[in-house]
Formats: sequence, C-alpha cells, structure tokens
Amino acid sequence: MTVPSKPKVLVTRDLPGDAISMLRERFQVDLPASDEVISYGRLIEHLVDKQGLLCLLTDRIDTEVLANAPLLKVISVCAVGYNDVDVKEATRRGILVTNTPGVLKETTADLAWALLLAAARRIPEGDRMVRSGRFVGWSPSLLLGHDVHGKTLGIVGMGDIGTAVARRAAGFGMRILYHNRNPSPLAAEIGAEMVSLDHLLSKAEFVSLHVPLSQSTHHLIGKRELDMMKPTAILINVSRGEVIDEAALVEALKKGRIAGAGLDVFENEPKMAEGLAELENVVLTPHIGSASVETRERMAQMAVRNLMDALDGRKPQHLVNPEVCNVR
Ligand code: GLV
Repeated sequence: MTVPSKPKVLVTRDLPGDAISMLRERFQVDLPASDEVISYGRLIEHLVDKQGLLCLLTDRIDTEVLANAPLLKVISVCAVGYNDVDVKEATRRGILVTNTPGVLKETTADLAWALLLAAARRIPEGDRMVRSGRFVGWSPSLLLGHDVHGKTLGIVGMGDIGTAVARRAAGFGMRILYHNRNPSPLAAEIGAEMVSLDHLLSKAEFVSLHVPLSQSTHHLIGKRELDMMKPTAILINVSRGEVIDEAALVEALKKGRIAGAGLDVFENEPKMAEGLAELENVVLTPHIGSASVETRERMAQMAVRNLMDALDGRKPQHLVNPEVCNVR
C-alpha cells in the first residue's frame, strides 16, 4: 500500500517561533535557505508544484505568479495588509487568500504612539545630540517640542488599529476626530467624533493613518491635504507608504508646512524619497509596526492555522475572499 505523500507548501522566508516545525509535521515544506526576500523568479519556480503558499508583505503575488502555480489552493499572508496579492485573480482561480488581522492591532498601535511621542518631543534629535557630544548643558529653549496631552488626534481609518490608537488617547486627555467610510460602532465609547477628511486635517494636531492600501487610498495624503494641515501638526503613518505622496511630504516638511512626521512605512520601501532621511523633523522606523516577539509569533501561528485549515478543506478563520467556494 502506498502512503499518500504530504501536500507541498512554500514558505517564502523563515518565521519566528515554532511555525515552521508545526508545518513540517503535516507538509513537505520548501523554505529557501537564505534569510532574504525571495526573488520573483524563484517564487515562480518554487510554486510550480505547491498546494500551499505562506508568504509575507514583501512578496508580490500577481497574475503571472498565479498563472504558474497550477496546484495552488491557498495563499496565507503573514500580515494584515494583503495589497501585494492579486485577490481578484486568486478568487477567479479558486485560490483562498488569508491574512492575520486583529492579532497585531495593539502592537502596531503602540508603535504609532511611539512615533507620535518621539516626533512631538523630538526624542531622536535629542538622542543624536547627546550621543554626539553636542549636549553641553540644560538650556531654557533646548529642543522645544509640542505637547501631546489635551490636543486633537485625527485618526484616518477607524478599523482595528485606528481604534486601538484612539483608545490610547484617553490617557492623554485628547479630543479624537476620525474619518472612516462607515461610522465606527465604538466611537461613542471612545468619545470619537466622525468628520470629513478635510475637517480632520484642518483641526488635528496629530494625524495618524490607518487605512488599507487600495486604489482609493493611494496618495490619500498629497500636497493638497498637507496644505490643509496646521503648521504645528505631526503626521504619523504605520499603514502603507503609498498612502502618502512622499515627495510632497518632503516638500511640506522642508518648508515647515507641517511640524513633523513619524513614518514606519515608505512609498518605495525600503527606499525613501530624496531628502527625507536628511530632515531633522521626521522620525523613521523600518516597517516594524507588528515587530514584537509575542506578536510576530502569534501572527506566524495564525498564518499556519489559516494554511492548514485551507488544505484540510475547512474554512480558514481569516479568509479574505469567502466567495471562493472550493471549500469542502
Ligand atoms: C504589516 O504591515 C502588516 O500588514 O501586517
């Protein structure tokens, strides 16, 4: 009697925790030896005989990739954002797409706040000053920043992460405005007021972006929107870089049109718009919104569970395209 062979899955890059060993118990796992972003060519080559794919936000899963993956049943993205997957084409081909929402909302909200506070109180500038020996003693006008408490926070995109960011504002006694497609069911509890984007931009001292990337949110914040913001305002982005027109932001920061920015994501990641890195009034982090030991392990486990459920014929809990009906 022949033993049925284990289904084959490609994991594009090593993951924290025991995710890979969990997968190895059930599947033949193809994991590239080098810990780097898999090249587009290798991705296509390695997917040819795979039923499952566990990938990351650095992998582009487009029509060509899907056309070359005839056996593929599931794409499990280990991220909340799945803008690099052609979901429409995957759906057309009957391939399930899953992501890892919820589990990273608090960690990402923490980072938004870390950037907000760092930019408002000029912490990286102070750190650079102290390290370089330029701190020669206390001075009444040294590195004056902006108060956070009692100010107005504008949340653009009141989903899981936007809501978690808004909740934290209570401790700072802030007024909260938000802009969202639909009213948030939690707005009253949080004390947040729904307003138009233009109103939010003109009133908030801190504007924090939490929208998914789509055609309608690409360059949501450009020159026009930056011009509407207060000169004392600080812009925070932990969503996707393409939501901001980065060249326009560099101009606005250079001209002092707004006071500062805290960015965890970039329009052409990992590259930055010319001039951005030279500005003192920006705080930059390398897309680490969900990067805590606990959260990255939970995300990896969730991605593994999604993949296993799909390959076992069960409906994965975090299915992005439920309209695919090849689930048993
Ligand atoms: C991070 O950016 C994610 O989408 O999970």
